[in-house]
Amino acid sequence: MKIVQTLFPSRGALLSLCVWIAIPIHSAEPTKLTVRLDQPGARLNPAMWGIFFEDINFGADGGLYAELVKNGGFEFPEALMGWTKVWPNGAEGTLEVLSDSPANDANPHYLRLHSNGTGPFGVSNEGFRGIGVRANDSYEFSARIRGGPDVPPLDVQLVSPEGKVVASTRLDSSSTTWTTRTATLNPTATEPKANLVLSLVTKGTLELDLVSLFPKHTWKDRPHGLRADMVQMLADLHPGFMRFPGGCIVEGSQLDRRYQWKKTIGPVEERKLLINRWNYEFKHRPAPDYYQSFGLGFFEFFQLCEDIGAQPLPILNCGMACQFNTAQLVPLDQLEPYIQDMLDLVEFANGPVSSSWGAKRAAMGHPEPFHLKLLGVGNEQWGPQYIERYARFAKAIKARYPDIQLISSAGPSPADDRFNFLWPKLRELNADIVDEHCYDKPNWFFSNAHRYDHYSRTGPKVFMGEYAAQSDRVVSIENKNNWQCALAEAAYMTGLERNGDVVRMASYAPLFAHADAWQWKPDLIWADNLQVYGTPNYYVQQLFSRNHGDMLAAAVLEQARSTSSGQQETLYVSAVRDETAGELILKLVNAAAEPQALDIQIQGAKKVGPSIKTILLTSPRLDDVNSFDQPRKVAPRELSRQIASPEFRETLPPSSFTLLRIAVSL
Ligand code: AHR
Repeated sequence: MKIVQTLFPSRGALLSLCVWIAIPIHSAEPTKLTVRLDQPGARLNPAMWGIFFEDINFGADGGLYAELVKNGGFEFPEALMGWTKVWPNGAEGTLEVLSDSPANDANPHYLRLHSNGTGPFGVSNEGFRGIGVRANDSYEFSARIRGGPDVPPLDVQLVSPEGKVVASTRLDSSSTTWTTRTATLNPTATEPKANLVLSLVTKGTLELDLVSLFPKHTWKDRPHGLRADMVQMLADLHPGFMRFPGGCIVEGSQLDRRYQWKKTIGPVEERKLLINRWNYEFKHRPAPDYYQSFGLGFFEFFQLCEDIGAQPLPILNCGMACQFNTAQLVPLDQLEPYIQDMLDLVEFANGPVSSSWGAKRAAMGHPEPFHLKLLGVGNEQWGPQYIERYARFAKAIKARYPDIQLISSAGPSPADDRFNFLWPKLRELNADIVDEHCYDKPNWFFSNAHRYDHYSRTGPKVFMGEYAAQSDRVVSIENKNNWQCALAEAAYMTGLERNGDVVRMASYAPLFAHADAWQWKPDLIWADNLQVYGTPNYYVQQLFSRNHGDMLAAAVLEQARSTSSGQQETLYVSAVRDETAGELILKLVNAAAEPQALDIQIQGAKKVGPSIKTILLTSPRLDDVNSFDQPRKVAPRELSRQIASPEFRETLPPSSFTLLRIAVSL
């Protein structure tokens, strides 16, 4: 049988139908793909492929935010969490956490360290599952210290788990008032799991607060900045947008634990700690030491977006706590402060320096606006409670900022009663962009590659805001970022792209995971204290976002395969044009275990070729994964060749994603 699939309809058609026509043919015949460049399709959103950042899996503290000391301000409810007493030679002393006459009224706790002088006595900080340091790199230590003229200096050391001192310095403690002391540490050895040891070698008492250790080299070498290697992974994706700060942490398991952006800006030492919901959400991976310091706060998020060329997409709480947890609701007549938070955020991002929130942005060093155009109202909400709240937010925001595009929620599932209730209501409300989420087996992604072919071309657009194929059940600790999942996502993404007139944005979730401190698998990028690697899924995302094209190209697929009912489709295609580069980009996914020959014919161009670049992503086994030891086991390979005519054959390897960039002149 031959199946004919029109990959998008002719210009002006209302429905992006995929037409399948079964024609009997010889089964060995190669599949034919005809691309019609004389039939341009919809313009694509250049910012379609983005990233979703949430502080889950130690994505911010212990991850992107480069601070290496955990609980350096002694503000955790268990005030010495992360710290242990050290007295190697049996010295005696005391540790007390106090808050009278603090260094900082906003975060008042500090440590009083007293040694009786019979040997070194002090405290050791374990960092975030250890402190990763590299030989020959520099690390900036700082602390507020209050001592006195007779107080001995404070010894600062980085010590390996085996007790080897890899860096040390000594700090003056003679001031009787809170004084910031700094020192540079230059480790003599690379150590992924060092401890930071602070001790008095002779008798004395001193007080310590805001203990901090940062790599000197951060992203753009900003003081108190972000981990350069992790940001580089984001920059390398060329993301069109970045959604932040989540995810469920936007909602909070209860309202008083929701994310409040205003508490995350201004001087870092004044930002107040909040327990992270992923601290206690899962019994299978509790993380009792997981808190949000907000060192990476909203100003830094906006700055990061600007640095990596991503449009900022903040999501704010809409008066609803997580409906999987307490589902607390703010009464409708008390929503005003929540709405005001959103209005103020637009002013913080875009307002002139003369405005009250614009002035705060300028005071933080960014008088220019951040060009905010997208704003999310609530995360994964559902029910009539969401609709009535969304309507109020939308009315207030559109009245003041009609050009801001609002993202609304379609709930946690891509097809259930909650979803079916929300979509028509949001359509009635003339919502801008609806956020759909899906975590499911690879098969769901393969068989939903045509999902959006059937969506209405009018009304709200779609943001596929969270998705990831799961090799096991959702939130199972057995889930893997394997090649099969990545291939399924690639197939699905051809469907998102072919429907780029309706699906305007998409992002994989979650983004980061710390190898020793994760709660949720799978994740796009894995890091430990010193290294980072991209999963096969990462490379799929990268191939789409770095080859997004400007407009759809018409394509017809005549597929030689059996049509027996229930058989899984094996070939997934999308065709787009990159006008600037003068190239046709074909994305071709072969989900079959055999190679598939594809006879490609490009019509409607004055000239095709001769140059053609092939980028191939494949792996011998579907359960292949990347790792710290083999970070590019599944990674793209590139080759260039020449074609002599607009008709040529491309043989797609088994279980592969092939991307072709073909020079075309129209
Ligand atoms: O991505 C992990 C979680 O999945 C997000 O926080 C939430 O929005 C979804 O349920």
